[in-house]
Amino acid sequence: MSDQNRIPQHVAIIMDGNGRWAELRGKERYEGHAAGIEPVRASLRAAVRNGVKYLTLYAFSTENWGRPQKEVDSLMELFCQSVISETPELVRQGVRVRMIGERSRFSEKVRSYLARAEEQTADGKILTLILALNYSSRSEITRAVRKIAARAAAGGTDPAAIDERTVSEALDTAEYPDPDLIVRTSGECRLSNFLLWQASYAELYFPEVLWPDFTEAEFDRALAEYARRDRRFGLVK
Ligand code: FPP
Repeated sequence: MSDQNRIPQHVAIIMDGNGRWAELRGKERYEGHAAGIEPVRASLRAAVRNGVKYLTLYAFSTENWGRPQKEVDSLMELFCQSVISETPELVRQGVRVRMIGERSRFSEKVRSYLARAEEQTADGKILTLILALNYSSRSEITRAVRKIAARAAAGGTDPAAIDERTVSEALDTAEYPDPDLIVRTSGECRLSNFLLWQASYAELYFPEVLWPDFTEAEFDRALAEYARRDRRFGLVK
């Protein structure tokens, strides 16, 4: 195990490769997403065991609505089923569930299931699990700009006083620290509209493994890779 100082406080994961995993096995795409639940459990276990405090998972982007309706419906059902079935274990592990993204586009059912999971896990102190749902960075930043502009127009904010903190505090992630490590599985090396503002100084790691094959050992490998990185935040040593 690496030294405690080198454990990232916040890990964010782009869970990619479910479709390819399913195709390789002659299965339907939704079966790939269903197979993506065990790696979520494994990542949570590994994060808790290593003392990571925040874990953000990119579960559904604003662009994902453009997928075939059958796939979108099966993902919605998977979110509902899994947040309900996993909640007791999340409570046991001291995990608090939160969400970023715009929930207004979800059905009443999805919204109520998510709200229930948030309420029932609200006392979790060990780790905060942040689900990015109907999330995209550009949409989040646009909403933040709108909020700040409305306050300025109402005379509550002096435009000259707007600084980076003003922007950070208007984002969905206002309460959380920036991610230290962003992992994207399946060998794709891009951020795809995920935490673009917050990723400014994040370390990026792109393992080849497809998300359904991601294990606790893979999570540990990501942390080991992070521990080797030399973070300078634009400064010199
Ligand atoms: C990307 O793989 C994956 C998704 C769009 C969905 C991820 C969702 C889950 C794993 C379910 C998690 C559930 C909870 C409650 C956290 P892809 O379909 O783009 O894969 P491909 O690039 O191989 O086609």
